[in-house]
Amino acid sequence: MKFELTVNGAKMTAEAPADISLLNFLRDHLHLTGTKEGCGVGECGACSVLLDGKLVNSCLILAAQANGRSVITIEGIHAPDGGPNDLQQAFIEYGAVQCGFCIPGMVLAGEALLGSNPHPSRRDIREGIAGNLCRCTGYQQIVDAIEATAVKRQEKVRHD
Ligand code: FES
Ligand code: FES
Repeated sequence: MKFELTVNGAKMTAEAPADISLLNFLRDHLHLTGTKEGCGVGECGACSVLLDGKLVNSCLILAAQANGRSVITIEGIHAPDGGPNDLQQAFIEYGAVQCGFCIPGMVLAGEALLGSNPHPSRRDIREGIAGNLCRCTGYQQIVDAIEATAVKRQEKVRHD
């Protein structure tokens, strides 16, 4: 089957089996290996991507369901110069990255949350990342990093 979707702002075309998951399509056909496979059954969030701006588990979605739509993967999240963006930088500064396996999904969950709720409480942040498991950090540093980014973005909006 021929797939045509917009990935990280660019139109992409590829042939793949009609029943392929979006996760395997991204990794095996588009070579976007930043999206990780953890559980493969919708429980860990390692495979999180944004589909038309909404956080989804790409292991549970068929690539066919994303056909003609817009997908953002971790490769699409960066600063204008290609380095880490403010949220990714905060993950580094707050020690929120340990083994790193959950981090692509966590960053996308954080971006999805901040996109829909620019003023999240810590509870909102915990709820926003509730579908993303991290076996290393205990979550505290991740919540700190998202909270600090929210505050900085609010300040920037006030000064712009
Ligand atoms: S790999 Fe998709 S939720 Fe775990
Ligand atoms: S940093 Fe290792 S699973 Fe989250």
